[in-house]
Amino acid sequence: MCGIFAYLNYNVNRERRYILQVLFNGLRRLEYRGYDSAGISIDDYFSVSRNPDTPQPSSINSLSSSPLVFRQEGNIESLVKSVYQGLVVELMVVLVLSEVAATELNLEESFTTHAGIAHTRWATHGVPAPRNSHPQTSGSGNDFLVVHNGVITNYEVLKETLVRHGFTFESETDTEVIPKLAKFVFDKANEEGDQTVTFSQVVLEVMRHLEGAYALIFKSRHYPNELIACKRGSPLLLGVKELNDDVCNGSAFHDAKFLSKNGNPKELFLSSDANAIIEHTKKVLVIEDGEVVHLKLFLICISSSSSSSSSSSFQFDPKFAISFYPTPFLKHEGGVSILKFNNDKGRNGDSLSARPASVQRALSILEMEVEQINKGKYKHYMQKEIHEQPESLTTTMRGRLLRGGSCKAKTVLLGGLKDHLKTIRRSRRIVFIGCGTSYNAALAARPILEELSGVPVTMEIASDLLDRQGPIYREDTAVFVSQSGETADTLLALEYTLENGALCVGITNTVGSVIARNTHCGVHINAGCEIGVASTKAYTSQIVVMAMLALAIGGDTISKQERREAIIDGLFDLPNKIREVLKLDQEMKDLAKLLIAEQSLLVFGRGYNYATALEGALKVKEVALMHSEGILAGEMKHGPLALVDENLPIVVIATHDACFSKQQSVIQQLRARKGRLIVMCSKGDAASVCPGGGCRVIEVPQVEDCLQPVVNIVPFQLLAYHLTVLRGYNVDQPRNLAKSVTTQ
Ligand code: F6R
Repeated sequence: MCGIFAYLNYNVNRERRYILQVLFNGLRRLEYRGYDSAGISIDDYFSVSRNPDTPQPSSINSLSSSPLVFRQEGNIESLVKSVYQGLVVELMVVLVLSEVAATELNLEESFTTHAGIAHTRWATHGVPAPRNSHPQTSGSGNDFLVVHNGVITNYEVLKETLVRHGFTFESETDTEVIPKLAKFVFDKANEEGDQTVTFSQVVLEVMRHLEGAYALIFKSRHYPNELIACKRGSPLLLGVKELNDDVCNGSAFHDAKFLSKNGNPKELFLSSDANAIIEHTKKVLVIEDGEVVHLKLFLICISSSSSSSSSSSFQFDPKFAISFYPTPFLKHEGGVSILKFNNDKGRNGDSLSARPASVQRALSILEMEVEQINKGKYKHYMQKEIHEQPESLTTTMRGRLLRGGSCKAKTVLLGGLKDHLKTIRRSRRIVFIGCGTSYNAALAARPILEELSGVPVTMEIASDLLDRQGPIYREDTAVFVSQSGETADTLLALEYTLENGALCVGITNTVGSVIARNTHCGVHINAGCEIGVASTKAYTSQIVVMAMLALAIGGDTISKQERREAIIDGLFDLPNKIREVLKLDQEMKDLAKLLIAEQSLLVFGRGYNYATALEGALKVKEVALMHSEGILAGEMKHGPLALVDENLPIVVIATHDACFSKQQSVIQQLRARKGRLIVMCSKGDAASVCPGGGCRVIEVPQVEDCLQPVVNIVPFQLLAYHLTVLRGYNVDQPRNLAKSVTTQ
């Protein structure tokens, strides 16, 4: 839920101003993951990594060095301000203490090697405040600093133990135990005479005691110019840039070409997602669960840790730590080596027999362009993402729909499912599992999947499935729908479903995400990077993927051939229809002006468009901060009708499908109670949905019924967008929300 970022340059002279810019820009790219507060840690003026060519005033050598930490409540720009103010103060202190001439000290101070870490926060434990922001620290002196994305579930037990060992805590966060634990391990090793304990040894020992989900980056006063990253559950990428890197055409860490560049200037980036890396390099390594990545000068060492211990108190054996790293990889100094470390306990019960094994890990090449993560001509990401739906839908369908050509049949090809279609068809039921917008997308696709496959389809909100420990059987197919592929509830539901033996299918927008990797098979949404916190283009692409899934599972029964072909034709034409519906932009802005001061909005839908009612209401709720509720129109008389009067605005979705006449009757009943109606109908139907006038009508292009939710949601997205802007709220960063809910 938070965003973590780090930057390490080696053998490249970089001014402090540049280093700060890299960190700030990284945070700006990750801000959509959380924007309650932010922080960074950088090396101070006395860092050993200063450019050796810059003469160092002798009076400075006597001053001790510890990383600088800046933490600020609010957005990244407030942090930027506070950092520059703080640095001016630091320079003044240096001037006073060292009697150095003012001209010798400036922000352009350059560092040959510098290791900086950064964090943007979405508060889970503790209010947004500097003390709860990251980097969290081991205490004064900043011996160990940590930025964290995720949740440490056993932090209370660890905290109690650390308090017993004399540590005092300043924050309410779960994260604070991590740097303090690191200091405890480090001090203990030193007390017991081990002056050579390495940074990785310390972190591996810390990891053994952590439970929960996390991606962590460590920085330490004791290990200047080094960073350690590790993860379990939360996403983390390493970006590698060598100066003069030409095209990113895929090399591997282990290959000779890479190793022959010993000592070449390098810049390394760690990030929660690719957005913050892409402007520097396309070469990335997706760090895997349990791995520990050690960035030290020009070494990158990767080890994997064992699963965490659940002990409530801990005993640190320094020998244990020593044995973790027999350090053969250090002999490759000057190269890049990756080690997969198996630290299972040896025959004697200790880990002395554990030895790292060299592994070959290829760097991946990011298939995205910087332009995709810029706003382009739009004011906001949400606006951009709404308007790029004709293109995102085209990309979603590219290469997957076949029509004409040598084989005249119209058909669907989903490569990621082809080996599993038979099993899915034979399933006892298909269970859709997701949260929020992704759940709504599955709900929209449910009727067509039932119709074409004949298999019963049930719906599960991920958290509810877990709360109930609902029944999942080996004969089930569970379909996990998630834009990010990282949502904690959905991930836990996936674990639960895997344990129960069902076939698990993933539908995600994030290649390499945990859901994509941990499901048996799946389909990528390919909607492109979605940055606006409110999901828009991912929703429409998810429905299209699930419509294609229905076609693929439905097979080629003759009785349904006509229907299948009509859907495929409809899919081909969908981007054009979306272009058409996007022309309602001004009309929806006018409607937003009308609704600007309203407290509440109801949305009635049914059949294919029950999901549209839920999703439309969710969009208005989450960004425009207006209460809105999606209601199944069939339930109107069973309660919601009591709310109807001449003031409350109500949207009724009555586009042309099998439920049309029922929706006409709903409209009549609402009008009979003087309801203030806005009716969404198919083009040309205005007179039949609102005979005699008196309601506001939104006319949308008609498409095949199962694809109508893709068209119908667009006016709601536009309405929510304009309502938010007119109300003066932040569209891309709605209050209290963040993209990718990686905590439960
Ligand atoms: C709303 C929204 C959320 C997400 C939900 C699941 O606009 O974006 O409701 O849909 O948090 O996220 P994913 O799809 O990433 O699993």
